[in-house]
Amino acid sequence: LWTPANIAQDAIERMQAQVGDRKVLLALSGGVDSSVVAALLHKAIGSQLTCVFVDNGLLRLNEGDQVMKMFADNMGVKVIRVDAEDLFLGKLAGEADPEVKRKIIGNTFIDIFDDEAGKLTDVDFLAQGTIYPDVIESAASKTGKAHVIKSHHNVGGLPEDMQFELVEPLRELFKDEVRKLGLELGLPYDMVYRHPFPGPGLGVRILGEVKKDYADILRRADAIFIEELRRSGWYDKTSQAFAVFLPVKSVGVVGDGRRYEYVVALRAVETIDFMTARWAHLPYELLETVSGRIINEIEHISRVTYDVSSKPPATIEWE
Ligand code: XMP
Repeated sequence: LWTPANIAQDAIERMQAQVGDRKVLLALSGGVDSSVVAALLHKAIGSQLTCVFVDNGLLRLNEGDQVMKMFADNMGVKVIRVDAEDLFLGKLAGEADPEVKRKIIGNTFIDIFDDEAGKLTDVDFLAQGTIYPDVIESAASKTGKAHVIKSHHNVGGLPEDMQFELVEPLRELFKDEVRKLGLELGLPYDMVYRHPFPGPGLGVRILGEVKKDYADILRRADAIFIEELRRSGWYDKTSQAFAVFLPVKSVGVVGDGRRYEYVVALRAVETIDFMTARWAHLPYELLETVSGRIINEIEHISRVTYDVSSKPPATIEWE
């Protein structure tokens, strides 16, 4: 019988049988899938689980602290936080090409993760939040996750003396089932029903070259947009929504002065499968509130635009 409680119990028992008294490593991203795996494994094997959380400097506002608070502080999961903002931004400096940026971010992540894995000598298992749709489309390697799966499957990216067996408790589940399982395991509703966030994070939402100043500005704009979407009840009516940083300057007036600052675009879409998507018909009043707040609260933004492109031909992300 498919109930979240039964699925959880079954997954926990299977992982206990597979792992025994050995140790498991998990790359925790803070996304739904890896979070549910962390919660499951924590229930199943407790302190035999070690998570590595890499803060690449391209996360949303306060995201790193939130992940640590939920898993390490509240749940008592063993989480190694790697603050790697400088490393990522250093490697991204001067690079404007979207696919090259993706590769840099993906490869840097794997280097860091391998490094951390190498420090833990007695780990036998690697847990992954692979879900059923990932299994089906594992050939398509655009997602950061598929990238990690591939690199770990062909073990080439890992230290040579290390052989991991995979633990993939979500392999047979669809996304909505994973979310229900997350709720069953006590993860908060807002976390479990959060919009998807790409592996390269703000790296592909800052058009062209990524800079720390840009990321800081974008984080604040994005947080305002999401806050107002939630407040108005529109967050759950959209599939994905975010702000995009456009590194062009535009003129505005503030009081008696003139301001010449950056532009952000707001993107919100409705979709079932993320293969096609319709731009969300957000109420004008909501857009007005968001744009007013962004321009008034963030001095380095002088203009806000709303993206009215559907997919296809436009993609959901801008890069
Ligand atoms: P596009 O922009 O291709 O996005 O319409 C479709 C969905 O995929 C996400 N996306 C990514 N996810 N790594 C990821 O993990 C990526 O490089 C990547 N690019 C796009 C995007 O956020 C949307 O949900």
